[in-house]
Amino acid sequence: MRVAVFSTQPYDQRFLDAANAAGRHVFTYLPARLEASTVATADGHDAVCAFVNDRLDADVLAALRSRGIRLVVLRCAGFNHVDLAAAASLGLAVGRVPEYSPHAVAEHTVALVLALNRKIHRAYARVREGNFALDGLLGFDLHGRTVGVVGTGKIGLCFVRIMRGFGCEVLAHDPAPDPVCEAAGARYVPLAELLARSDIISLHCPLTPQTHHLIDAAALSRMKRGAMLVNTSRGAVVDTRAVIAALKSGALGSLGIDVYEEEADLFFRDLSAEVLRDDVFARLLTFPNVVVTGHQAFFTHDALAAIAAATVANLDAFETTGQPRHPVSVDRLA
Ligand code: NAI
Repeated sequence: MRVAVFSTQPYDQRFLDAANAAGRHVFTYLPARLEASTVATADGHDAVCAFVNDRLDADVLAALRSRGIRLVVLRCAGFNHVDLAAAASLGLAVGRVPEYSPHAVAEHTVALVLALNRKIHRAYARVREGNFALDGLLGFDLHGRTVGVVGTGKIGLCFVRIMRGFGCEVLAHDPAPDPVCEAAGARYVPLAELLARSDIISLHCPLTPQTHHLIDAAALSRMKRGAMLVNTSRGAVVDTRAVIAALKSGALGSLGIDVYEEEADLFFRDLSAEVLRDDVFARLLTFPNVVVTGHQAFFTHDALAAIAAATVANLDAFETTGQPRHPVSVDRLA
């Protein structure tokens, strides 16, 4: 198939070329994000390959379809950015990578927890300045602390197992409780109890209409004073303005995020020579007790190889059966 690969970074090209070594598909690598203004670059292709911040709303999908595109393959697990109902009514198939390395994301989440707790970001800067004072770097033992995990799918389960390894009590919340997760040592509780009892809260649910701003001012007010919040799921699960207010008042003890509501205009690019125009994001960066990474939780060698392999498998399957190997259908929204 001829595939227009949007939002291409050099590493995407390397891993996709390796997965496509047999040369069954022809990839056109496009650094631009897929959106209304770039959709014309998909001309002459059968499929588009998109990433997390590409825009796949009804208008873009209709424009793709009218240009002969029959398949959208996502290089990610989340599909909140795709209008699946529009895709279905246009007869556009959508495939994704349902699982590439839940370990990659869970391990990065733990990196954020440890960095925030032991102030590694501050210690790193201090030591390089010749400042070996410890005041201000005080952390706490994870052992014996209570960790709340919201969403116990593939990534949440990995995170539960790691935190149990630290000797934490793990509370979980998920509309679809998983006996495997319970066997791993998590105890399912209502969200209100999880918020009230956890020292660390980590979000691993998808972004849906139900989880949009799940962590808002009301949820934050139910948390333990000084609790840590970590979000490696999707930015809009958290109301960033409410979180900033909670950080300012001291109600929220620390925040680690790999995702941000308005990340599409920021992440995956080098903006170091430009003025930051997003005042909310700029405010977040001023807190000593906030660590932000730019949507890199997935970014391991193992995960990129698995993403590329699943993407090629989606294309192969579509060619032979008319459906991607891992289809996303409109009923996933239910
Ligand atoms: P998954 O589909 O295996 O698990 C999601 C879980 O969330 C399911 O068990 C589901 O029942 C649960 N859930 C749904 N609504 C919920 C709610 N209202 N409250 C609590 N739980 C709810 O997904 P997976 O693979 O574990 O990924 C989780 C999320 O992580 C993805 O949707 C994606 O947004 C994000 N992600 C982030 C990456 C990064 O690089 N930062 C990389 C990959 C995924």
